Amino acid sequence: MRDESLTITDNRTGKTYKVPIENGAIRAIDLRQIKTEEDDFGLMTYDPGFLNTASCQSRITYIDGERGILNYRGYPIEQLAESSTFVETAYLIIHGELPTRQQLEDWTYHITHHTIIHRNIEKFIDGFHYDAHPMGVLLSTVAALSTFYPDAHDIMNPESRQLQTYRLLAKMPTLAAFAYRHSIGMPYAYPDNDLNYTGNFLNMLFKKTELKYRPDPVLERALDVLFILHADHEQNCSTSAMRSVGSSQVDPYSATADAAAALYGPLHGGANEAVLRMLTEIGSKEHIPDFIRRVKAGEGRLMGFGHRVYKNYDPRARIIKRMADEVFKVTGKNPLLEIALELEKIALEDEYFIKRKLYPNVDFYSGLIYQAMGFPITIFPVLFAIARTAGWVAQWIEMIGDADQKIARPRQIYLGADARDYVPIDQRA
Ligand code: CMC
Repeated sequence: MRDESLTITDNRTGKTYKVPIENGAIRAIDLRQIKTEEDDFGLMTYDPGFLNTASCQSRITYIDGERGILNYRGYPIEQLAESSTFVETAYLIIHGELPTRQQLEDWTYHITHHTIIHRNIEKFIDGFHYDAHPMGVLLSTVAALSTFYPDAHDIMNPESRQLQTYRLLAKMPTLAAFAYRHSIGMPYAYPDNDLNYTGNFLNMLFKKTELKYRPDPVLERALDVLFILHADHEQNCSTSAMRSVGSSQVDPYSATADAAAALYGPLHGGANEAVLRMLTEIGSKEHIPDFIRRVKAGEGRLMGFGHRVYKNYDPRARIIKRMADEVFKVTGKNPLLEIALELEKIALEDEYFIKRKLYPNVDFYSGLIYQAMGFPITIFPVLFAIARTAGWVAQWIEMIGDADQKIARPRQIYLGADARDYVPIDQRA
């Protein structure tokens, strides 16, 4: 049998250590025994940005970045995008298996019947300035939910976790839609239980004076597929935030607010918004070579390109690119598409991007679809947050049930001043 272990020789002392290898990893704590002196702290690893550190074991999402593979609970993203719905995929991600017909009915029923938010949350949204970014509104209001549901603090109780799961999945679209309606000064449109998850979201966003809002089925399905593609992506920045903050045993609304804050950043979920701004700024195909030159000179990034894990085409981008055609048949072509296609072509032939394995990611084309569907740019990261809530919740529940997990508390390498005496203010230089 193969010896699943690693032998390390510390050249400082000449001592040799043997540490077990499990699932292709060693435990960082096993390095602590490697010391030069008895009272030495022991060897640590230094890994800013977690480039090569697994922070957990997980059974939810599998990514093979080299081969461009993404599976939720073993099911390929292409099959889910083709055959599943977001609500079913959320069930799969959270529960580990596809639901039976009855399970799906119950799940859908509960999510549909928790969509309304307390009037005081509406008043809270009313308090934001008219030009508040919807993502800032979303993350603040989801945090505020924790004050409305004190039972959510009972995180060790599976029934409570189930209830908060329904509430989170159900209320995120309502919060997002209300944030948008507030920003354009429109009265809030209440949930319509006759519509499905995405149809109802479109209703809350776009309903005007008509008695019944009827979403376009192609656009409703396209948004549902986009939600499936964004539902989880293993240990990315926002999911790590969810797990890290959740590891303090705070309630899931507070942890979700932190995850949403992480997603807000332009390097993560804010990238779809940044792509649209970039394409608008480029303005026409003739300006692309100059733009690429500036990116290569380090004067900014080609937004929607590159990924920490995918070093091949992002499989989600491939599905989105195909879907764009269907959406544009209904909405008309987004004039920025030509620029995006040309930008992609030029970048994929350029040595700079080839060498660094930079390919379009999920955000490169999603914004074009969102814009064609009538979504304002600032709501793009909010759409990402609604879908990713399924993943955040699944990862949070997995973390709570994982006996290996402890409060997240990284170590540091201290390089600051040695201990010194306090200097009174009149004696300082
Ligand atoms: N444009 C130009 N250069 C880039 C880009 C880009 N988009 N991405 C990476 N690089 C370069 C980077 O400058 C570096 O070059 P060098 O080795 O010469 O210093 C090299 O490629 C490696 O980059 P890195 O920053 O070390 O890679 P990372 O794994 O830390 O960053 C990333 C991953 C997604 C943050 C980065 O590729 C990026 O900033 N992309 C643009 C923002 C974006 O589209 N984000 C959405 C990610 S997908 C949705 C999600 O899951 O959040």
